[in-house]
Amino acid sequence: MNAKKTEKPVTAATLMRAKRDDQKMIWLTAYDASSALLAEEAAVDVLLVGDSLGMVCLGYDSTIPVTLNEMIHHTAAVVRGRKRAWVVCDLPFGSYQLSPQQAFGNSVRVLQETRCDAVKLEGGVPMAETIRFLAERGIAVVAHIGLTPQSVKKFGSYGRRGKSGDEREQLLEDATAVCEAGAVALVLENIPHDLAKEINASVSIPTVGIGAGPDCDAQVLVWHDLLGLSATNPPFAPAYANARQLMHDAIARWGDDVRQGRFPG
Ligand code: KIV
Repeated sequence: MNAKKTEKPVTAATLMRAKRDDQKMIWLTAYDASSALLAEEAAVDVLLVGDSLGMVCLGYDSTIPVTLNEMIHHTAAVVRGRKRAWVVCDLPFGSYQLSPQQAFGNSVRVLQETRCDAVKLEGGVPMAETIRFLAERGIAVVAHIGLTPQSVKKFGSYGRRGKSGDEREQLLEDATAVCEAGAVALVLENIPHDLAKEINASVSIPTVGIGAGPDCDAQVLVWHDLLGLSATNPPFAPAYANARQLMHDAIARWGDDVRQGRFPG
């Protein structure tokens, strides 16, 4: 099932039905209204305003400096550009880890000020209480485990998680905990493919893979990686176009035309 075919708005129930019917859902990050519109025209089901925003749009060297106000600003733009897609906003670092109450207050801000559909937060077992608190109060929460970029300072790299037996066990526990707490979907980032397959089979909510192999219910990529706008891509995110070159050439050609007196004609 995809948004273009059904013409109906995508909801959390659509994602659950797609898992049951073994239909792949397409998630893509977006950070502004025009890319939201373009992604939907290409039949993307879910627009994720990831805090990757900080690295791909705002020039930060990690996602840690991203603020709630920045997430709200960009998510509101994506919502203005969408027609049917489900829009998810990342809660940025520091906006939800303190307490369930902090997470609730900031999620309410996100939902009221952007009109998006769900919030996403990073973490497994330690975040289960917070996810339950939000879910019991009517908030759709997407959980994110595996490589969790907001913890890069703790792990020291963006490397693959779940390689050791202990880490595998932990990730299986994390998946069960967030599912039982009431998350509506689960992002699995950069983990072994057989582990993602095992998690996918063990939880009742849709899994969304990025660097987690083919056995997840949905796939997500970062806009700039997919389109070849990033200077370098992670190994699990192949570029499907070379938009960087295309844009560079158009700008350079226009500049030449201006210098040579060919523009304006
Ligand atoms: O911030 C982001 O773009 C994300 C995706 C990589 C899942 O969390």
